Amino acid sequence: MKALILSGGKGSRLRPLTYTGAKQLVPVANKPVLFYAIEDAVEAGITDIGIVVGDTGEYVKAAVQDGSRFGARVTYIHQPEPLGIAHAVKISRPFIGDEPFVLLLGDNFVRDGIAKYVKVFRDEPVDCQVLLYPVSNPQDFGIAEVRDGRVVRVVEKPKEPFSNLAVVGIYFFDHHVFEATDAIHPSWRGELEITDTIQYLVANGFKVRALPLDSPWIDTGKKDDILEANRLILDLLEPCVQGKLDSESQVHGRVSVAATARVLRSVVRGPAIIGAEAVIEDAFVGPYTSIGARCRIQQSEIENSVLMEESSITGVARRITDSLIGRHVTVTGNSSRPQAHRLTLGDHSYVVLSGPGA
Ligand code: G1P
Repeated sequence: MKALILSGGKGSRLRPLTYTGAKQLVPVANKPVLFYAIEDAVEAGITDIGIVVGDTGEYVKAAVQDGSRFGARVTYIHQPEPLGIAHAVKISRPFIGDEPFVLLLGDNFVRDGIAKYVKVFRDEPVDCQVLLYPVSNPQDFGIAEVRDGRVVRVVEKPKEPFSNLAVVGIYFFDHHVFEATDAIHPSWRGELEITDTIQYLVANGFKVRALPLDSPWIDTGKKDDILEANRLILDLLEPCVQGKLDSESQVHGRVSVAATARVLRSVVRGPAIIGAEAVIEDAFVGPYTSIGARCRIQQSEIENSVLMEESSITGVARRITDSLIGRHVTVTGNSSRPQAHRLTLGDHSYVVLSGPGA
């Protein structure tokens, strides 16, 4: 069995981060979302992995390389334009051949892995197997209708949802999928839809099994989704303080401090992770925060946030919360006159300044 992981797309809802990187490389607990998908495949015994990349392919290749660090062999498949999930499947046919495979969307995050669903698919093969997860906003997903464990209908983002069961971004197929991807046509959004592919299989008498996904699942398209995935992983963190902690600092709860990080005159209240060579000085790092490698937090407080590599937060009077901060970002406080905000923000940046006296 093979795995096909999609890692293209524009990531427009994660701008400006996605101007300089792939959305699948945004870190959750200091590890790119995409790496969780690769590790999930390997954990399920699948090491022959195809990764479909688009415009951001160079970033993905630089991060994943040949896959050997994951115990996998990675083949890259270039999708020249983001023409849909089913299009990505279609162009991956030379890689897949006749083997059954699991298709993973590289920005989908599932906390407890995929091994048990791979086992069901291996032990009792069907043409297609999908995983369903109840959602409160069914108009935003592919939605399935199920009878006796079989999918009888699936519709992409229905305006009038007939169930709340979303088809999550983890799909299992045998080679019949290529008959479907050849037969379907682009949708209103100009994409070959994976839901139309599955609906084709249903309508043409192929067996499409539905299983409930019994692990938290997040489609990490937006900032708050990343923060939610970050909370899920940090809740499982093994406490491990290896870095330097001075006598005036305190660390509480699930906290991981990398061996080369330093915590000076500060409080770190977990769950939190502090990356390599980061410096936390006269600062507070609160629950559900991931501080990336080589970041500096000085005379400032931060919680429920993800800070990517090499960024600094210095002398900010108010606590920073619910924030996703990219690489090489500088945030500084200022106590001199005039008391004013001074901003240099890239296109599509998003800033909330709290007031009065912010
Ligand atoms: C895609 C699929 C949709 C599925 C979702 C899961 O949506 O088209 O059927 O439910 O992924 O994340 P998209 O992210 O393209 O809007």
